[in-house]
Amino acid sequence: MKTGRRYAVRAAIINPAGPGRIDFIRDGELVFDRDGAVVHCGRRRTWRPPPSRLALPRGALVIPGLIDCHTHLSQYHVRGRTGHTLMHWLSSYVFPAEAAFRDRAYARRVADGFFGKLLSNGVTTAALYANYPAGAEEAVDAAERSGIRAVVGLTLMDRGVPRPLRQRPEQALEECRRLAEKIGKGRTGRLWLSVNPRFAPACSGKFMAMIGRFVRESGAYVQTHLSENEGETALVGRMFPGISSYAGVYDRFGLLTPKTLLAHCIHLSPAERRLVLKRGCSVVHCPSSNLFLHSGRFPMEHWRKYPKLCLGTDVGAGPSFSMLDAMRDAYFVNREPPERLFYCATMGAARALGLENRMGSLRPGKQADFSVVTVGENSGRNGRELLSDLIFKWDQVRFHQVFVGGRMVWPEKL
Ligand code: GUN
Ligand code: ZN
Repeated sequence: MKTGRRYAVRAAIINPAGPGRIDFIRDGELVFDRDGAVVHCGRRRTWRPPPSRLALPRGALVIPGLIDCHTHLSQYHVRGRTGHTLMHWLSSYVFPAEAAFRDRAYARRVADGFFGKLLSNGVTTAALYANYPAGAEEAVDAAERSGIRAVVGLTLMDRGVPRPLRQRPEQALEECRRLAEKIGKGRTGRLWLSVNPRFAPACSGKFMAMIGRFVRESGAYVQTHLSENEGETALVGRMFPGISSYAGVYDRFGLLTPKTLLAHCIHLSPAERRLVLKRGCSVVHCPSSNLFLHSGRFPMEHWRKYPKLCLGTDVGAGPSFSMLDAMRDAYFVNREPPERLFYCATMGAARALGLENRMGSLRPGKQADFSVVTVGENSGRNGRELLSDLIFKWDQVRFHQVFVGGRMVWPEKL
C-alpha cells in the first residue's frame, strides 16, 4: 500500500486526555502525513518506509497547538496601559487605537506583527476582534499568510463609542457579508467568520436584533463580552430596563448560540449562568485581563466541570500573548490544577469552537498543530512536573518550532 510521505517528531509529548488529565509519553513519537493529519501519537514504532525525521533540540517537548479564544488584533499597541478600569480604559486608550485601523497600510503592518506574536507563543488558533472593513480584510489576509487558524470578526458598535468607530447597522452587516465571502474564497479551511457585537453598551437593540438574524442565516460564530465589570453590568441594566439581565439582553436578540464565545462572565447571576448553559455558549476565562483591569475574580467554581470552558489572553487588556501566562494567572487566581488549565487552552478550547474533531489534541485523524518547546535546566521528571515547568518557569521556556497542519509556520523559513 502506498502511504505517501510521512514526517516524524521524536520527543516527550504532553497531550490533554480529559478535563484535568494529561497523557505523558517520555519517549514519544508524533507521525503526520503530507496533508498535515496525525497518523500516530504515542510510543515509538518501526515504520516501513521510515518517515522523514525532523531535527529537534535536546530535551524537546511536544505539546498541541494552544488556542486563544479571545484576543483583539487592534489592541496590539494598547498592552500595558495602566491606571483605569474597563470603561475609562476603553475611552482613554482602546477607542483611539482602534480608530487607527481605518488606514489599510497600518492595519496590514500590525496584523502581520500580531499573528507572528501569536505563533511565536505556540498559539496555532485564535478567535479575534478586528476593526474597520480594511482592518478585518487585512486580518484575513495576514492570517492566511502566517499559516495560523483564526476565527475573525469585525467589532460591531453603533452607539456609546466615538464617532469614527460608530457604524451604520445595514452597512456593517454588508461588510460582514463581504468578509464571509472573502473567508469562503480562501480555501485553506483555516479561517472562520464571526460577528462581534462589542458589548451591549455599544450596540442598540435594533442593531443586535439585525446581528441575531445575520447569525441565524449565516451560522457564523458570535464573539462578545459579558459581565466583565460591575459598572458595565449596572449600565446595561439601566440601558435595557425591560430585560431582566445582561445575558438576557443578548438572548433577547438571538445572540446566545452554541457558537457564541462569551468573554469574562465574572458577575453573572445564577439565572444568567443557567441561561448560558441552556444555550450551550462557550465561556472564555480571561484571567490576565481580569487582573490587569481589576475586573473581579472569575468564579471558576461554577464552570470547572463545563466542557466548553476555555481561556483567552484578551490582548490588549491582557498584557501578554502567551497562553502559558494566561494559564499561570488562572492558577494564581483560581488555584486550578495545571492539567485542567492545559485542557482549557487545548481541548476545552477546541470544544468551545466545535472543532474538537480537528484540533485540541494530537490524535490520529486530527490536524498536526503542535509546538516544539524546551523548559530549560532542572526540568520535571514526569508529565505533571513538566507541565508545571511550562507554566511557571517562563524565563526558561523556549518555543523552537510551531506547526499548523503539519507545516512549520514559526520561525518563518527564510
Ligand atoms: N468590553 C467591551 N470592549 C472591550 C474590550 O475591548 N476589552 C475588554 N477587556 N472588555 C471590553
Ligand atoms: Zn476583550
